[in-house]
Amino acid sequence: MKILITGGAGFIGSNFVHYWLEKHPEDKITVLDKLTYAGNLENLEPVKDKISFIKVDICDEEAVEKAINGIDTIVHFAAESHVDRSITGPDEFIRTNILGTHVLLKAALKNGIKKFHHVSTDEVFGQIPLESNEQWTETSPYNPRSPYAASKAASDHLVRAYFTTYGLPITITNCSNNFGPYHFPEKFIPLAITNILEGKKIPLYKPGNQVRDWLHVKDHCRAIDLVLQGGKAGETYLVGSQHKEYTNLDVAKMICAFLGVSEDMMEFVGDRPGHDVKYAIDASKIKNELGWQPEFEFEQWLKATVDWYKQNQVWWKRIKSGEYQEYYQQQYSKK
Ligand code: NAD
Ligand code: DAU
Repeated sequence: MKILITGGAGFIGSNFVHYWLEKHPEDKITVLDKLTYAGNLENLEPVKDKISFIKVDICDEEAVEKAINGIDTIVHFAAESHVDRSITGPDEFIRTNILGTHVLLKAALKNGIKKFHHVSTDEVFGQIPLESNEQWTETSPYNPRSPYAASKAASDHLVRAYFTTYGLPITITNCSNNFGPYHFPEKFIPLAITNILEGKKIPLYKPGNQVRDWLHVKDHCRAIDLVLQGGKAGETYLVGSQHKEYTNLDVAKMICAFLGVSEDMMEFVGDRPGHDVKYAIDASKIKNELGWQPEFEFEQWLKATVDWYKQNQVWWKRIKSGEYQEYYQQQYSKK
């Protein structure tokens, strides 16, 4: 397989590159990434001699066409991915997530790509009331509530339209919240861990009772692998952990306990506008059709993730000392 991985220098994309090289060492991997603030070549440092890397913006039609030449499979991760940034600056989300995805689709069609896998999110479905036991399935209606979620929803619709209209062999996964190594420290779990390691408090959006369906990033990578191997063209698969529910407060308390600090190291800050209170996924389709099961138990692997951040302080300190500082000041000055 000659596989092009867009966004392969980001969190999930780089984990996918590591995963794929281990499972399918015979394949040729090209990583295409614009290296925005969230893209980091250090994530690929251990495997840099085994892959090709090109610094390209997915909105650049000419460069994308050139990059696709000779490729048979595209796994599309590249996106603006942080909900809070989409609230303060939606333009880049519309450009990359919608227009960029469309540029890739056009180039894929023109070049006869055999498989186009689009990596999407459960946020396209909106939110579930806290007291409800509902879980989303592949037939749940779309109801995105943030500019990020709306841009991903639009990209999903475009990807499906290219299957229905032009027969491009696409598949889509909509996955829940990932955690694990190389997670950018603006997202809740790595932010909480690295703040404590720096002697700072964990900022919890009030009232801290929101629920996320946390899945280890390696379980997500394996789900995409199974879809690439056995998924049917045109189909969508939902991916989620289905473990017991943890509120953000529960997760913050666990992180404090793993790091041996008092719960006074948590502080409530102003809530995110339009904050989705709960996500939950019914992953029966991918389980029944492709035999996928999550393998990484949440509490054990949250502890392993805490240990990873303890052992890789150079990696996240370099990130936190750069442009991210400015963003942090803006985001958390409004208590
Ligand atoms: P990330 O922000 O860590 O990485 C995104 C990568 O895309 C970065 O390397 C960045 O440089 C690159 N990129 C951004 N704009 C680009 C452009 N215009 N051209 C080329 N490259 C560009 O994101 P992530 O958390 O790894 O998410 C990857 C994908 O998975 C996204 O599509 C996201 O919507 C989806 N997803 C994420 C989660 C999650 O919990 N993080 C869950 C479900 C789905
Ligand atoms: O569900 C999948 C989505 O998960 C992905 O599509 C997104 O790309 C990814 O960023 C993630 O979105 P969330 O908004 O759920 O993740 P985030 O880590 O930003 O927030 C997780 C929860 O923690 C959420 O309820 C908001 C809360 N939070 C977040 C931050 C950054 C806080 O309480 N404090 C914070 O400082």
